[in-house]
Amino acid sequence: MAATATMALPSARSCKPNPSTTTYKLSSSPAATTLVMSTPFAMNSWRCRSSTLNGSAILAADVGAGGRRREEKKGGEDEEWRKYMLPERLEVVRQLEAWVEEHVLPLLKPVEASWQPTDMLPDPAVMGTEGFHAACIELGERAAGVPDELLVCLVTNMATEEALPTYQSVLNRFEGTRDATGTDGTAWARWVRGWSAEENRHGDVLNRYMYLSGRFDMREVERAVQRLIRSGMAMHAPSSPYHGFMYTAFQERATAIAHGNTARLVRAHGDGVLARICGAVAADEKRHEAAYTRIVGKLFDADPDAAVRALAYMMRRRITMPSALINDGRHADFFAHYDVIAQNAGIYTISDYRSITEHLMRQWRVEELAAGLSGEGRRARDYLCALPQKIRRFEEKAHERAAQAQQKPNTIPINWIFNRHV
Ligand SMILES: [Fe+2]
Ligand SMILES: [Fe+2]
Repeated sequence: MAATATMALPSARSCKPNPSTTTYKLSSSPAATTLVMSTPFAMNSWRCRSSTLNGSAILAADVGAGGRRREEKKGGEDEEWRKYMLPERLEVVRQLEAWVEEHVLPLLKPVEASWQPTDMLPDPAVMGTEGFHAACIELGERAAGVPDELLVCLVTNMATEEALPTYQSVLNRFEGTRDATGTDGTAWARWVRGWSAEENRHGDVLNRYMYLSGRFDMREVERAVQRLIRSGMAMHAPSSPYHGFMYTAFQERATAIAHGNTARLVRAHGDGVLARICGAVAADEKRHEAAYTRIVGKLFDADPDAAVRALAYMMRRRITMPSALINDGRHADFFAHYDVIAQNAGIYTISDYRSITEHLMRQWRVEELAAGLSGEGRRARDYLCALPQKIRRFEEKAHERAAQAQQKPNTIPINWIFNRHV
């Protein structure tokens, strides 16, 4: 992978020490006096609060006198990312099209060379009826050893994949790269459709495995998927290709990690079929991550000031999981509870969040950015360079909270697994 192999503006970066990178400001906003995780690890749902106020007091202040301030702040935020809709900025994106054709589209696999869900699961067309039934029984026996917390994580991973209509809509909101007609011939549009077609196999294979395993109340799972797609997902700077591709690069790596961790853990519990499925999905996610990381790398090369400001904008607001609105139809705070399960199971943790942040910043050589940065760009770079250390402090707190939580487990019945408590 060569995310930043070709640099349009080599002078935009410098390996020399830069005075403004030697000392990083740890907090740029007085409002961010203490950042806490909303759950023991809360991979994506951080919130700021004053050390003397609890969450509901903050909310009340927001709704009351602070409501106007919040609206004003929101207007300012909108103004910030809407600058990325200006013609000169979109021109940067448009000029990348030939490069996308050459360096991004080849990351898609031809249909003939792609695995299909049927390759991973018992197939009556190959095995015959008896062989198929025997293989299904064997699949169920292997699945019987997978613990409940991993089953719950698998449902969320699968529902996240099944919500693909939401993500294709997200990509088709990006100005300058969208597939306007549904059959556009641009390299951008062909990427979006090809990527979506590959992603579509992920939900299919997980769903089918789950159905055959007999370990899930599939009707409840199906309802959760329907609810999630109905709810959609919130995304900052929703039409900006700069911000959007950064979000997507982060998310592809996050899903690769989550599926990869699932593969490792279920294999340890004896389910080689599920491990192979999750491994294949994770490998796809890594290819997709490479594509989006390359795209953003080119944006950093061509337009470093705008790129670094966009990245800081996204990271200040956290990269939230696309499944943040998932729920079981019964618990209002279901996702917060799920966060804890995923952390404790080792599927996706705040340490993963930090490692993704560090990895992408290395890929995009954020620390080396120097020439061509505005004052705002330098502040954005310094904020980003200080961020991993900041997250590390939350990790320590998260581990402490997780240890405390294990003393007094707070479980809920989850209908996806027949109301067993997790
Ligand atoms: Fe996927
Ligand atoms: Fe993906």
